Amino acid sequence: MPITVLIGAQWGDEGKGRVVDWLARDARIVARYNGGDNAGHSITIGPRVIKLHLIPSGIFYPNAICLLAGGMVINPRNLIHEMDEVRAAGYEVSPRRIKISESAHLVLPTHIALDAALETARGGDALGTTKRGIGVAYSTKMLRTNLRAGDLRDAERFSDLLQRQITQANRQLVHEFHAAPLNADALSAEYFEYARQLAPYLANTAVLVHAALRAQQHIVAEGAQGVLLDIDLGTYPYVTSSSTGVAGALSGLSVGPKTITRVIGVLKAFNTRVGSGPFPTELNDETGARLRGTGANPWDEFGSTTGRPRRTGWLDLVALRYAVRSNGIDELVLTKLDILSGFESLKVCVGYRWRDAELTEFPTDAAILAQCEPIYETLTGWQADVTAARKRSELPAAARAYIEYIEQRTGVPFSLISVGPEREQIITA
Ligand code: IMO
Ligand code: MG
Repeated sequence: MPITVLIGAQWGDEGKGRVVDWLARDARIVARYNGGDNAGHSITIGPRVIKLHLIPSGIFYPNAICLLAGGMVINPRNLIHEMDEVRAAGYEVSPRRIKISESAHLVLPTHIALDAALETARGGDALGTTKRGIGVAYSTKMLRTNLRAGDLRDAERFSDLLQRQITQANRQLVHEFHAAPLNADALSAEYFEYARQLAPYLANTAVLVHAALRAQQHIVAEGAQGVLLDIDLGTYPYVTSSSTGVAGALSGLSVGPKTITRVIGVLKAFNTRVGSGPFPTELNDETGARLRGTGANPWDEFGSTTGRPRRTGWLDLVALRYAVRSNGIDELVLTKLDILSGFESLKVCVGYRWRDAELTEFPTDAAILAQCEPIYETLTGWQADVTAARKRSELPAAARAYIEYIEQRTGVPFSLISVGPEREQIITA
């Protein structure tokens, strides 16, 4: 039972939220352990689509305690907004349901202003960040000068420290980036209030995790972003600034590797990416546009945090196999199979051509990856709508063949296949 780690096996936006929502049915704890509100996890419940950026996707089941665990970077202002939204949708948001780790780090207005200034300064080489201050918050953490969630407990001291941090950052903003300074007085007063509101949610989350482990309760660790955006494993520098995979879950939840009994990788039936960076199977044509959708539906490929159109392309098995191996993924979940209905044929990338060589392993140097041309195999498409299927046997033969092909090539079975955005549109067997 103990810990299931659920991670994105691509470049994020794989549909992790809806899968965590599914697993949370029998979970005692659902914990986020990396990233911040750069994540956008959408869950469709009846007519409603709820987007979560910071709150774990277990919040819709009353039995699950949601941890914002160590390893995260939390924007207090946006967390309070999100809490209000979830509460307004009719779900309990209270210190009983949500616990914030004292050792999680904070994303402060200085980080957001500097993230924007740095991106502007990079010009054509911009990383395409979500401008949520994520990279700057993590770099401040590594410099050991950041404020942590635990600092919210003493609102007075917290607002003083913030004021000092803003005064310092203003020098950099004004002199180095010629950007507008932040209003230290107004912000420290505003954040004093946030500290007071969030203090009751603070907890030593490691103790809660260890107690659940002793009681053999199910814990779900919810990764944000994906393996290919991991600070160490991903396509650096076109990555996010956290450990998105299993390594992040271990330190975030404060547990050893043997407590993890399942590592689930979520992948879309095709590939997408937001922001800059190499993407060998990218399609800048009508097929790519068709995979993206028009934006009319909430599940079309437009960023749920930034609204940017996502880059789209065929499934990349070289990258997927790398994600599987580097994290010990032993179970896969496929999402958005329904989007592939109606194609005459489907391409799947099985290798790269780089200079005179054929690569079957994912390059760890993004400069090499950027020069790779995909080598494709072509599979037969299917025409039928698959959204009503609830068993594999109810899928068209070509869809089953596509699924089995991925299983064969990765050596990992699919335990769930989603065929639509609704909670129940899932194939379990
Ligand atoms: P979820 O959890 C997809 C991307 C950004 C950018 C890079 C760095 O919804 O899958 P950052 O703001 O993190 O410094 O940006 O990472 N990125 C994501 N892409 N899904 C996400 O989260 C992402 N979070 C960050 O687009 O390329
Ligand atoms: Mg997203």
